Amino acid sequence: METTFNLCFLSLLLVSPFALSELCNPSDKKALLQIKKDFNNPNAAVFPSWNPDMDCCDWNGVQCDANTNRVNSLTIITDDRLSGQIPPAVVPDFFPQLTSLEFLDLSFNNLSGRIPSSLSQIPSLVSLRLDRNRLTGPIPDSFGYFKQKNIGLVLSHNQLSGRIPASLARLEPERINLSRNKLVGDAYMLFGANKTTQQIDVSRNMLSFDLSKAEFPTSNLILLDLNHNQIYGNIPQQILAVDFLQIFNVSYNQLCGEIPQGERLQRFDNTTYFHNKCLCGSPLPSCK
Ligand SMILES: *[C@@H]1O[C@H](CO)[C@@H](O)[C@H](O)[C@H]1NC(C)=O
Ligand SMILES: *[C@@H]1O[C@H](CO)[C@@H](O)[C@H](O)[C@H]1NC(C)=O
Ligand SMILES: *[C@@H]1O[C@H](CO)[C@@H](O)[C@H](O)[C@H]1NC(C)=O
Ligand SMILES: *[C@@H]1O[C@H](CO)[C@@H](O)[C@H](O)[C@H]1NC(C)=O
Ligand SMILES: *[C@@H]1O[C@H](CO)[C@@H](O)[C@H](O)[C@H]1NC(C)=O
Repeated sequence: METTFNLCFLSLLLVSPFALSELCNPSDKKALLQIKKDFNNPNAAVFPSWNPDMDCCDWNGVQCDANTNRVNSLTIITDDRLSGQIPPAVVPDFFPQLTSLEFLDLSFNNLSGRIPSSLSQIPSLVSLRLDRNRLTGPIPDSFGYFKQKNIGLVLSHNQLSGRIPASLARLEPERINLSRNKLVGDAYMLFGANKTTQQIDVSRNMLSFDLSKAEFPTSNLILLDLNHNQIYGNIPQQILAVDFLQIFNVSYNQLCGEIPQGERLQRFDNTTYFHNKCLCGSPLPSCK
């Protein structure tokens, strides 16, 4: 007993000076320094604090798990919008080395080019924000294969094009925001009566599909924003089975037919429904 205690005490003494000066996991630190190098952006707000001589858990934008000391959250906002002179950063391809990374936020930058498909290999990722950049090309097929199926995906306000990959049907994202891109085709893979998704925002794209064939998640969905697309057909009766819908918007589409009546859909004002082809019924004027 006493020996064990002494041994522990001794090893604590031996280990602690290192542990105190450097909590950061060495391979995480190596990956972060590579990221800094690849962004090649000395003016970026976060990077000056990324000093190799310091504990990476103390760097700006970096957070480590309190138990494992592995990097679990990374926020890189590079855009110095005051000067407007920061060159577009290169999206790095080696994030998968950060095996404990749960939150990755690269929003509000000036990132251009395609989304690297390798991002889906970050094994612990539960939240990815790439919104408000200048990203082009399609959403990678690989995004259907994130290990954490409930991953929150915010890819809004870019210039993403093509169809939403069918593979996304495998996910149950807590929230997904693809708003303000140039996506075409359908969004059926995001729907499904049994999904646990809470928020779906695909507004302001060029999506074109028959809404009457959609089945919405019934138990968790609180936000469904489809405004400004080319969605046709009518609003399916099935939507009346969605229990807690709080924000709903299908305006500026090509929808037709009577808005399902009952209390649920009449709680929303007419701006939820306006600017469609021939939607009618409360809260719009009645069908003739
Ligand atoms: C963003 O990148 C583009 C080129 O891709 C460049 O023309 C523009 O000046 C950049 N904007 C800022 C604020 O750095
Ligand atoms: C989706 O992203 C857009 C653009 O960044 C934003 O305006 C909108 O509020 C977001 N939607 C949700 C539900 O958070
Ligand atoms: C959804 O769940 C219900 C009840 O658990 C089940 O009967 C139905 O087959 C499921 N539907 C799908 C598409 O998985
Ligand atoms: C629906 O979206 C349109 C277009 O963005 C907007 O004008 C309207 O206020 C929104 N209505 C609701 C209830 O969110
Ligand atoms: C929407 O409602 C407002 C106020 O209730 C009304 O003035 C307006 O005419 C309505 N618009 C449509 C398209 O029904």
